Amino acid sequence: MGSGGSALCWTLLCLLLVPLQVQSAIGFNWGTLSFHKMRPSTVVDLLKANKITKVKLFDANPDALRALMGSGIQVMIGIPNEMLSTFNSDLFVRQNISRFIGKGGADIRYVAVGNEPFLTGYGGQFLNYVVPALLNLQQSLLRANLASYVKLVVPCNADAYQSNVPSQGMFRPELTQIMTQLVSFLDSNASPFVVNIYPFLSLYGNADFPQDYAFFEGSSHPVPDGPNTYYNAFDGNFDTLVAALSKLGFPQMPIVIGEIGWPTDGAVGANLTAARVFNQGLVNHLLSNKGTPLRPGSPPTDVYLFGLLDEGAKSTLPGNFERHWGVFSFDGQAKYRLNLGLGNRGLKNANNVQYLPSRWCVAHPTRDMTQVADHFTRACSEADCTTLNDGGSCSQLGEKDNISYAFNSYYQLQMQNEKSCNFDGLGMVTFLDPSVGDCRFLVGVTDKDLSSSAKPMARWSSIYHICIGVAVWALTMLTFNE
Ligand SMILES: *[C@@H]1O[C@H](CO)[C@@H](O)[C@H](O)[C@H]1NC(C)=O
Ligand SMILES: *[C@@H]1O[C@H](CO)[C@@H](O)[C@H](O)[C@H]1NC(C)=O
Ligand SMILES: *[C@@H]1O[C@H](CO)[C@@H](O)[C@H](O)[C@H]1NC(C)=O
Repeated sequence: MGSGGSALCWTLLCLLLVPLQVQSAIGFNWGTLSFHKMRPSTVVDLLKANKITKVKLFDANPDALRALMGSGIQVMIGIPNEMLSTFNSDLFVRQNISRFIGKGGADIRYVAVGNEPFLTGYGGQFLNYVVPALLNLQQSLLRANLASYVKLVVPCNADAYQSNVPSQGMFRPELTQIMTQLVSFLDSNASPFVVNIYPFLSLYGNADFPQDYAFFEGSSHPVPDGPNTYYNAFDGNFDTLVAALSKLGFPQMPIVIGEIGWPTDGAVGANLTAARVFNQGLVNHLLSNKGTPLRPGSPPTDVYLFGLLDEGAKSTLPGNFERHWGVFSFDGQAKYRLNLGLGNRGLKNANNVQYLPSRWCVAHPTRDMTQVADHFTRACSEADCTTLNDGGSCSQLGEKDNISYAFNSYYQLQMQNEKSCNFDGLGMVTFLDPSVGDCRFLVGVTDKDLSSSAKPMARWSSIYHICIGVAVWALTMLTFNE
């Protein structure tokens, strides 16, 4: 082929590549506080099917890391706050990094040292452990010859800084010293500052917060700041951090968004539409490469959406929405349309999910439920009933369906153990899906390969379905013939 032809080829190749060239890389947080865990390999396949190349874990779960080996996905592992005061950094590097990294291994690029350790709510209890842990771990990485490859970061909550307008941003006064140490450390190791930003929480926690300012479609309440105007909470928050970093002498420090997202259930304002509009708005904003007023043309380098999957076992202390942050449900099914700009137009669902048999536990249709209160309370204190509350997808259920929902959540949590649907005779197993409208009565999943004894059961249940289908059809025909 002549040089003219090859130039044409290059031009075509470039034209093809340009729209794919992404300044901010979109990754996902993979939290595992779920009663119903899919197999880690199923989750990794879900990431791959959606062309997701970066994932953030909250610990160094060996099963997750093993599943990520050879996937080509870049990984941020985490050290929980509670471990900071006691952990042995050499041992950590050996057990949780060196063992997995290398050719065909897990591509561990970052270690998050603590998770939001400076959060106001923690009352400073982790404050003194962060910098020593960083320094020790860095020494251990150097000794293991990994320091140039694996970067240490400290994901901070946006409550680490404050201001009325972005340009005046500064870290909380009591954090000045530690932030100075942290940011110098990050700078000397070419690590980014990692921050978690949640416009949903601003909206949820503050009745005066203008709703449209939380999203990316423009705002009827823009925030003027000198020569600049802010039209969304994300830009305002991001630039407040840029200003705070500048005050410490690091105006160019790279910023990574460790968590950002929108929940879909468990609160007014947490719904599928809002989550889709927020996440799509965010992705489009990042891919536009517009950046923010203080960093025009340079959006954050990496952005990790929170989260990949719903986590039904999370604490509801922050609110019932806490268990519903997933872009995918607990079983890896996309909850709404989203174009991540990674090459797929829409989201792909998880494949080969290992469900328990198709059966549910419901309130017995003919029994008297006056004595059910204790059972209801106990079921919901162990299993997840958050969707029953105000603003939840199951908040419109009647009293009896409410009970069924609670019974079923508990029954699935107990892996459909027959006794767990007893409730002193008030419960009953059914093979007909009791889901109503948007309110889904779940069937549990398992991260184990179902034993051979369970499989015929699954098949039996579909035979049962067909029988019921035929029976319903026969009844309908009878009614028509009358
Ligand atoms: C390695 O990570 C696991 C999972 O987070 C943790 O339980 C373990 O304590 C870590 N090992 C060390 C030596 O800190
Ligand atoms: C969904 O949430 C948004 C705000 O987060 C709210 O404006 C909207 O009314 C909600 N939609 C429904 C159907 O509740
Ligand atoms: C259903 O349960 C929820 C949560 O306990 C409660 O707020 C709601 O009032 C119940 N609805 C009915 C109809 O009993």
